Amino acid sequence: MTLLTIHMSSSARWGLYLAVDLGGTNFRVCSVQLNGDTTFNLTFNKVAIPKELMVAKTARELFSFLADQIEEFLRAHHEEHFVETKKQMTGPSSARDPFRLGFTFSFPVNQVGINKGKLIRWTKGFDIPDAIGEDVCGLLQEAIDRLGLPVKVAALVNDTVGTLMARAYTSTEGSQPILGAIFGTGTNGAYLEKLSKIRKPLDGTYDKSTGEMVINTEWGSFDNQLNVLPTTRWDAALDESTVNRGVQKFEKRVSGMFLGEIVRLATLDMMKDESVSLFRDANSSFNDWKSTTNVSPQSGLLKPWGLDSSIMSVAAADNTPELSTLRQELESALDIFAPSLEDAQSFKAVANAVGRRAARLSAVAIAAIVLQSGKLDGPDKEVVDIGVDGSLVEHYPFFRDMIYEALKAIDGIGPEGAERIRIGIAKDGSGVGAALIALVAAKMESETDFEYKAKAETSWFE
Ligand code: BGC
Repeated sequence: MTLLTIHMSSSARWGLYLAVDLGGTNFRVCSVQLNGDTTFNLTFNKVAIPKELMVAKTARELFSFLADQIEEFLRAHHEEHFVETKKQMTGPSSARDPFRLGFTFSFPVNQVGINKGKLIRWTKGFDIPDAIGEDVCGLLQEAIDRLGLPVKVAALVNDTVGTLMARAYTSTEGSQPILGAIFGTGTNGAYLEKLSKIRKPLDGTYDKSTGEMVINTEWGSFDNQLNVLPTTRWDAALDESTVNRGVQKFEKRVSGMFLGEIVRLATLDMMKDESVSLFRDANSSFNDWKSTTNVSPQSGLLKPWGLDSSIMSVAAADNTPELSTLRQELESALDIFAPSLEDAQSFKAVANAVGRRAARLSAVAIAAIVLQSGKLDGPDKEVVDIGVDGSLVEHYPFFRDMIYEALKAIDGIGPEGAERIRIGIAKDGSGVGAALIALVAAKMESETDFEYKAKAETSWFE
């Protein structure tokens, strides 16, 4: 559990901020213009993180790559401002005002200050041992300084905290979200808790005046002992093949990075079973009786991690009687030629079971926070708002519907409670959230550093 206080009750310095996001398959660099009126303008660039950098020998290699991307982005989108700021940086120190950058770093961190946090462990396929225990803002700042960029890493943010912030900022109805959650490559949630309820000793600097604190739960590592989580032999096999064996067990049943591999392992077992005739029809269906099903030796189905979870979305979305889209996808994405209707039906059933289990477990995590917040007990029947982001909630058909279906069945929530819970996408949450926290950081710096006067008032989270 990592902790961070957010307090934005007084003057804020609206304007242009940089935000970078490391935490999944892509690295995103964005600039966010915060207008201070619930709106923002965002420009971004996204680049896939080379696989070898996810397991680089040294942290320096990964962070140098990140700094290169920041430089490229500034040159491409803010050339004038970049050159001007760079000039300023070599001038008298009173005139220095670098770009402030919010760093969304979506891994478990022991956060001890607004721009300071030590990496506890890597997740989601990253494994660079010499970064463990290091301050990740320091690592990024060093890489930025090596390039001489006029950028200050001003804030460290988890993507769930960013999502919570972004949802609060963009809310036009005055209702504040109680949870920011990610269901993407990984999964996690952050919520607001009363300081009086927090028993964990808190080190580092934080502001006590609001009486509340944002808690990053890191629920991806819930129940690593497997006391209550459902477990199949494919879950166990998957865990064995990961770089972070034994941890993130909840995440490995819920998030996009892992679902495809569970489907692959289960499907492969069915194929190996002589009594099951999956993907081996001589006449692949009575509609195209001449074709014989054939699984190429190159098929991703036969290679560890060779089945991308995105095919599960195709399976869920295809409700045609012939499942023709799914059959085409099995062919183009997995080199399974001429699959029969029955093959596609079986694949769809396995994929849907894995997807539905993920959605139901997601509902359990959401329900835990809703119940903890006590918001359903109030007399005024207000909406309980939740901001979410990530590829699963965005692109997996019916994921949110399945979450609602499960919420209705949970004690303490029920159909009435589920009706009051509003799960809404916080688009670009991590970018906007990081920019917002960079703004908080700018405000926390000595005000004499800036030539600005208090312009806006806001009072989120109070
Ligand atoms: C990380 C979290 C992150 C989540 C979603 C997990 O693997 O531990 O910090 O919020 O993924 O990106």
